[in-house]
Amino acid sequence: MPAPLRVGIVGCGNVALNFHVPAYQAEPDRFTITALADTTPERLELGRTGTGLTPEQVHGDPLDLIARDDVDVIDVCTPQHLHRDLVVAAAAAGKHILCEKPLAATPADAAAMVRAADEAGVVLGVVHNYLFFPEIIAARELIDDGAIGEVRTVTVDMLGVVDSPGAAGYRPRWRHDPAAAGGGVLMDMLHGVYLAEHFLDEPVERVSAYVDAATPGDAVEGLALCRLESARRAALVNIGWGFGPGGIRINGSKGRMVLRYRDEGTIPWAPFEAMALTTESGTETVGLPPGQELGPLVADALRITVADFADAVAAGRAPAGSGRAALRTLEATVAAYASAALGRSVDIPLPPDGPVHRQGVIGLAELDIPATSSVRTRGLFGLTPNGS
Ligand SMILES: NC(=O)c1ccc[n+]([C@@H]2O[C@H](COP(=O)([O-])OP(=O)(O)OC[C@H]3O[C@@H](n4cnc5c(N)ncnc54)[C@H](O)[C@@H]3O)[C@@H](O)[C@H]2O)c1
Repeated sequence: MPAPLRVGIVGCGNVALNFHVPAYQAEPDRFTITALADTTPERLELGRTGTGLTPEQVHGDPLDLIARDDVDVIDVCTPQHLHRDLVVAAAAAGKHILCEKPLAATPADAAAMVRAADEAGVVLGVVHNYLFFPEIIAARELIDDGAIGEVRTVTVDMLGVVDSPGAAGYRPRWRHDPAAAGGGVLMDMLHGVYLAEHFLDEPVERVSAYVDAATPGDAVEGLALCRLESARRAALVNIGWGFGPGGIRINGSKGRMVLRYRDEGTIPWAPFEAMALTTESGTETVGLPPGQELGPLVADALRITVADFADAVAAGRAPAGSGRAALRTLEATVAAYASAALGRSVDIPLPPDGPVHRQGVIGLAELDIPATSSVRTRGLFGLTPNGS
């Protein structure tokens, strides 16, 4: 058995301390956490006491962690607008990188990260952990076995997302700041976008969308209805904060699969309930154990995510959530914002020299956004109803 990967975690916020730290600690033969970094002293101290590290192993400056010789993997758990500089520095230091989703707040940042990892010859993995939920794995396997023929459409409903604040000691409202988050509920829950891509199994080429604020005056959207088109297939991805319905439906040339969650709720707040497979022979319930509640579900998926990442490092292969796949997912997400603002479909990849590729939602201000656009009338992403 190879020596455990030595992991340095940057950002000791909610996701790091609740899920990443336990995932590594669950596999002591494969991982050892050797260092932590956080710019917020109280979060760093929480991380230090939770992991039992010494004061010499924790850093207020993440670059000091990246410079350490006893770190093989940098695990980036900060908000997304900060991912780029950390990932580029980690790659330059020859470290493998696991980065939280979304890979970045802008496609340009994400592309720079993918480039930096390629140039350094290190593995860049992104935490696309919903790929490892048991019913998602089972649905993909059924499709691969030909159970519903060729996939035609995919519908991912996540309209019951809980608007969770960030860590209290840092900036609890950073998810509502377009410059930090790069968007609202759609960006935060782009899990729905990569799940749709996963089932479409063809690159998304065109996106159209409607977005709206959940609360008047909010700077980011709380509702996003998106259509993603690939060469021969299409997906509808509907994501919103609130109490709307959830569930996944996959329609193929020879059948359909419908994944239901408790009370028609949204993954992962509502546990998986049942998957129905319908073909010309009738409808059957696919035999799967009932889903877990959010905490254990996400904890298990994080354990599989880090194990897959370690396997990828050992084998020199791309992890399930690769940097390249995450860049595509981010492009589709940002294209949805551009589409909603412009009132037309938007092709991806986005032009690399365009404002939306360079600056994400902040770049929308440089486009000619119609006065009737919901993005403008609601004052989302810094746009104003009358001006820019
Ligand atoms: N995969 C998932 O299921 C999942 C779930 C939650 C969050 N996330 C992602 O994880 C990331 C963090 O989210 P969170 O909920 O933990 O946020 P959070 O607000 O709870 O924590 C952010 C942490 O980053 C720290 N930080 C800020 N700037 C820093 C810097 N320059 N260097 C080091 N640390 C810095 C803050 O002090 C804070 O402790 C986001 O990208 C988010 O989208 C993913």
